[in-house]
Amino acid sequence: MPGHDARQADTVTPRPHAATAPRRIVVGVSGATGIVYATRLLEVLRQAGTETHLVITPAAGMTRACETDLSAEDLRALADVSYPIGDLTAPISSGSFQTMGMIVAPCSMRSLAEIAYGMTGNLLTRAADVTLKERRRLLLMARETPLSMTHLRAMIAVTESGGIVAPPVPAFYTRPESLDDIVNHTVARLLDLFDIDTGAPRWGDEAAGLAATRAEHNGRKA
Ligand SMILES: Cc1cc2nc3c(=O)[nH]c(=O)nc-3n(C[C@H](O)[C@H](O)[C@H](O)COP(=O)(O)O)c2cc1C
Repeated sequence: MPGHDARQADTVTPRPHAATAPRRIVVGVSGATGIVYATRLLEVLRQAGTETHLVITPAAGMTRACETDLSAEDLRALADVSYPIGDLTAPISSGSFQTMGMIVAPCSMRSLAEIAYGMTGNLLTRAADVTLKERRRLLLMARETPLSMTHLRAMIAVTESGGIVAPPVPAFYTRPESLDDIVNHTVARLLDLFDIDTGAPRWGDEAAGLAATRAEHNGRKA
């Protein structure tokens, strides 16, 4: 077909969650800045009654120490189960261990590249590779700026394999009043992709005052 990019036809679509699949998500934390996204994600998943299986890279240990007062144990305690990064015998290393999918938050460019090119050198990237091969949902909260062509190509490769690249990009239409508001909204948008509703404000919500803003704008245009 003229103008058709043949590569589009090769893009994998994750299969829907099986109704019988356990309510369980793998959470990977890598060494990009923004470990607060990981802690909030784990807290919200616990509130939502979703079992979490956590794996943290050594570099994420550095960002945790730089960016928070949490100990490694504090971070691990936010999950139901946590695994050492080198434990390739862990359940999440196998596709036979059923999950709804995996979220890597935040996702460094190094972990992104390993996942994009199927290099499974540690438990985080192995678990992500398993998620892709099982056609489950894989979300990468990739964090870097500005982006090089290498980063962008890796993002395309992951997307073609069925992964979702979801950088932490704040929205301002909710009129955030704090960093917490911004983090909560970003985590909520991630979890939307797993059909988990955290109750965070949405575009069109009366409660968020957004409908009134829209009406005012439309009134001005008329
Ligand atoms: C405080 C701090 C912040 C960092 N922020 C980023 C970042 O935003 N994105 C990124 O790709 N790497 C970042 N890095 C570098 C990664 O930690 C480094 O590339 C590491 O090898 C990633 O390994 P991992 O993917 O196994 O966690 C940061 C490092 C430190 C110490």
